[in-house]
Amino acid sequence: VNLRIPGPTPCPPDVLAAMSRPMVDHRGPETAEILARVAPKLKAAFQTENDVLLVTTSGTGGLESAVVNTLSPGDAVLAVSIGNFGERFSGIATAYGADVTKLKFENGAAADPTKVRAALAERPGTRAVLITHNETSTGVTNPLADLAATVRAEAPDALILVDAVSSLSSIPVKTDAWDLDVVVSGSQKGWMLPPGLAFVAISARAWQANETARMPRYYFDLKKHKQALDTGSTPWTPALSLFFGLDVALELLEAEGWEQIYARHQHCADLTRQGVKRLGLELLADERYASNTVTAVKAPPGLDVSRLRKTLRERHNVVVGGGQADLSGKIFRIGHLGLVQEEDIRETLAALAEALPVAGYQPAAAAV
Ligand SMILES: Cc1ncc(COP(=O)(O)O)c(C=O)c1O
Repeated sequence: VNLRIPGPTPCPPDVLAAMSRPMVDHRGPETAEILARVAPKLKAAFQTENDVLLVTTSGTGGLESAVVNTLSPGDAVLAVSIGNFGERFSGIATAYGADVTKLKFENGAAADPTKVRAALAERPGTRAVLITHNETSTGVTNPLADLAATVRAEAPDALILVDAVSSLSSIPVKTDAWDLDVVVSGSQKGWMLPPGLAFVAISARAWQANETARMPRYYFDLKKHKQALDTGSTPWTPALSLFFGLDVALELLEAEGWEQIYARHQHCADLTRQGVKRLGLELLADERYASNTVTAVKAPPGLDVSRLRKTLRERHNVVVGGGQADLSGKIFRIGHLGLVQEEDIRETLAALAEALPVAGYQPAAAAV
């Protein structure tokens, strides 16, 4: 199957094989050795000297940990939302009692730093800004470097909490250079692993905030995770099989090299965008900010998205994503992250060219 959803992504055979290893003592030397091996590699991926914690949870759990470890109920938070995952991040902060102001941009748009600056100027004392780096629901990558610089200029003490779930490891994130405070990614995206692990990088500023942060937390108490990691362990029983897989996945990623990985994602994304446009279809994303990990395609009049997805799956063994929330039925999404090569994209485009007429739309031309 050509699994072209924006996560979970296909896993390399060596990763799958590693995950079938017998269990070990999660407090024993094997686990400590794995943690010691992966720690510097995770830091390299995050481009940081900060601690990168491994939390057994999905990406959403990682985002929740970012919020509850740095904030207190009543804190002023600016939630920058360009889609469904921005709404989720905002929703987490609201659920834990932050005083959230939402700055929402329309589907397909990136966040505008000028508007972020204005929103911060209107609310002095903003404690944290929540930013989605890559909005998986719309296929847009925010200009994170510019947004972070804007926050630093306007609100120097505000924490910058970043959802990099579907970007980090596929699209560069410069955690230290951009002065980001908490950065979260998820194993089922570019990391070529199954779902179940969140990676959470934490700055010195965020650890300082942690000292006074009063939102309730227990499982996601990152201080416990940090203390355990410092002794080669985890506070709770971790998803050990995913640790085995991560050990191998990071070796594969490092062997390819991060620059080459980013270039491969750019290339696959370019091919996808060109291909769908040749079929006469339009992207949802403002092209200047179109994502290198997922392409959201607008459904033209007459196209039945669920029929398209069913046809692709049943006749072509190609699985693409649908639209989420208000975009359901209005777009479909092609994932191109993690284990993806040019051939996967060519196969997807060829399948699309055949499946589109079955689902009610006659493509403009051959895509491949
Ligand atoms: C940008 C973004 N944020 C958050 C999440 C949530 O991650 P999870 O579904 O692993 O909880 C996802 C995953 O779909 C995502 O793409």
